[in-house]
Amino acid sequence: MRIITKNAEQTIKFGEKFAKKLVGGEVVLLVGDLGSGKTTFMKGVARALGVKQIVNSPTFVIMKIYKTTPATTYKLQAIKNLVHIDAYRSIDLPKLENIGATEYFGRKDSVCFVEWGKFLEEILNFEFRILKVCKVCFRNIDENTREIVVKRKKLYNKI
Ligand SMILES: Nc1ncnc2c1ncn2[C@@H]1O[C@H](COP(=O)(O)OP(=O)(O)OP(=O)(O)O)[C@@H](O)[C@H]1O
Ligand SMILES: [Mg+2]
Repeated sequence: MRIITKNAEQTIKFGEKFAKKLVGGEVVLLVGDLGSGKTTFMKGVARALGVKQIVNSPTFVIMKIYKTTPATTYKLQAIKNLVHIDAYRSIDLPKLENIGATEYFGRKDSVCFVEWGKFLEEILNFEFRILKVCKVCFRNIDENTREIVVKRKKLYNKI
């Protein structure tokens, strides 16, 4: 699945659409250059899950956990925590374990989104036995144009 967005709001809308397919327990790796729209996409994910706080980059705190509010669709109601991790400055697994991030991986009441999390791709299945791994790749095309590609079609083929 590949889309082109022409402004930030379109990327937010796509994040919202993506999030409506979640069931809980997913780990989503957000991959792409600086400023390519990963955090912007998260704002849409948060909107779909009824998060009240403003979502911005967790770069300095590494991880933010947002409480969701009861969503309109039955599936989304199972998701209580939206976990947003920025691995840009903590590019190893022990550090993620230290801050407690990995405790949320695969939990049915949570969904985890990891910016700069490509390094986790190989180990999530083996070490954490997480099957619901998905990758969303962002690319800067020009100042306001972004390409977004969702990898794991099996899970998200309806988006
Ligand atoms: N089509 C678009 N989609 C998303 N963001 C866009 C788009 N057009 C312009 N922008 C702007 O690009 C910037 C994207 O920043 P954002 O923080 O989402 O990127 P990021 O991938 O999270 O970067 P970082 O790697 O630094 O965390 C925002 O300022 C946003 O307003
Ligand atoms: Mg970001």
